[in-house]
Amino acid sequence: MSQNSCSSDFSAAASLSRSITLAFLHATNVKRIVYDEISTLREVNTNNPIASDFDDLRIDSARLMDRIMSLAEVSPIAGGGNCRLALTDEDRDGRDLVVSWMRDLNMDVSIDAVGNIIAYWNVGSGAPVMTGSHIDTVRTGGKFDGNYGVLAGLEVVETCQRNGYIPSRPLAVGIFTDEEGARFAPDMLGSLVYVGGMTTEEALDITAIDGPRLGDELVRIGYAGSAPCPGVVPHSFVELHIEQGPLLEANNVRIGVVTGVQGISWQEVTVVGQSNHAGTTPMSLRHDPTYVAAEIAVFLRQLSARFGGHQVCTVGKVDVFPNLINVVAARVTLTLDVRNTDEKLLQQAEHEISEFLTQIARAEGVQITTKKLARFEPVDFDPRVIDIVESIAKQQGNTTRRMPSGAGHDAQMLARVCPTAMIFVPSVNGISHNPAEHTDTDDLVAGANILLHTMLTLCATDLQ
Ligand code: GLV
Ligand code: MN
Ligand code: MN
Repeated sequence: MSQNSCSSDFSAAASLSRSITLAFLHATNVKRIVYDEISTLREVNTNNPIASDFDDLRIDSARLMDRIMSLAEVSPIAGGGNCRLALTDEDRDGRDLVVSWMRDLNMDVSIDAVGNIIAYWNVGSGAPVMTGSHIDTVRTGGKFDGNYGVLAGLEVVETCQRNGYIPSRPLAVGIFTDEEGARFAPDMLGSLVYVGGMTTEEALDITAIDGPRLGDELVRIGYAGSAPCPGVVPHSFVELHIEQGPLLEANNVRIGVVTGVQGISWQEVTVVGQSNHAGTTPMSLRHDPTYVAAEIAVFLRQLSARFGGHQVCTVGKVDVFPNLINVVAARVTLTLDVRNTDEKLLQQAEHEISEFLTQIARAEGVQITTKKLARFEPVDFDPRVIDIVESIAKQQGNTTRRMPSGAGHDAQMLARVCPTAMIFVPSVNGISHNPAEHTDTDDLVAGANILLHTMLTLCATDLQ
């Protein structure tokens, strides 16, 4: 059965034709790497983590942009963005394309039980230095969120290979399943399972917003793999990502040195009222769940204003039943996305929301139930990896700013098992999760060069 989730009602849209058919992609056999085309191979190993014999190495901007634009041609939507909700046909098409590029680079591609794809360039020795991100998108996603980090990782590998640099450790590039959480909650699901934060069985049993079970969708698209989960613990992890916010651009800074990720609390709230006739039911006798949902949205807005700082709250999804003009609704389901860099404040926000739900349910005579969808505490990245990113960014002539991430990222899960940090590049007008998402090529290239040198430096850095 084909599963297209890019039309808003999940039912109609004809599947976009697969741009590439690569039946051999799902084999996980290990290929030995032969670099016939590389005449001189040099071992990259330096005791100085910043200055080294690979200082002049730079990524190929045309090749990076070419891959980004080619992936954006898989499941395009109006306005220049993409719809590749996790484990849909569109996600599979994107995976197939990127895996073909991994295999072109003679990387060993492993796929685990929740569909995480990790490609290894098995050179050097020891645990791999890993990068990666995701290629699933929200329904109205841009071409850079996640994709940029994965494809810049491939560009790091190809740059080394073509220039005859053999890192002293394996390099790994990951595509983590369902980072967005837009189809299966929680977000960062694949990387959470990868680090052992959720069992495979639990993950496979999660149902999509359009009904299917995650495990069934993985099998359907051919990405239920056999690599062990939890996965290989990397030596270190660094993720390159667009900022998705306005701060770098507003401050005329090119590189965000990411110090951590704020805490995330997701819940689904269901309000059940009394469905009735819109013309005959006096206002004083109504138990209207749509009105209550609106009050909840207003409360969240006011709470954010009261808390200030990094507090943000969003009601992003509202489903009204029966959703008709002349019917007081029977039921409304809405999602609450509440985030803060401070765990205590996040808990306080959750507490106040819970009290408000009790109070408004009583006042309006409706029943309110809640379901937790995701809860992640704020994460601090490793100061040593942060320092390396910052030094390299500055050494390459970039302006930098230390900042926490407002968005969730796979790096926040990898940080549970290995030294981790992130690199941000500016988002034009601070826009993301929107087809208009854009980052200038110069910024994308600058970020990828910092990723390259951060990974090579990490290869040569003892982080015990
Ligand atoms: C992921 O993009 C998130 O922060 O919701
Ligand atoms: Mn992302
Ligand atoms: Mn995203």
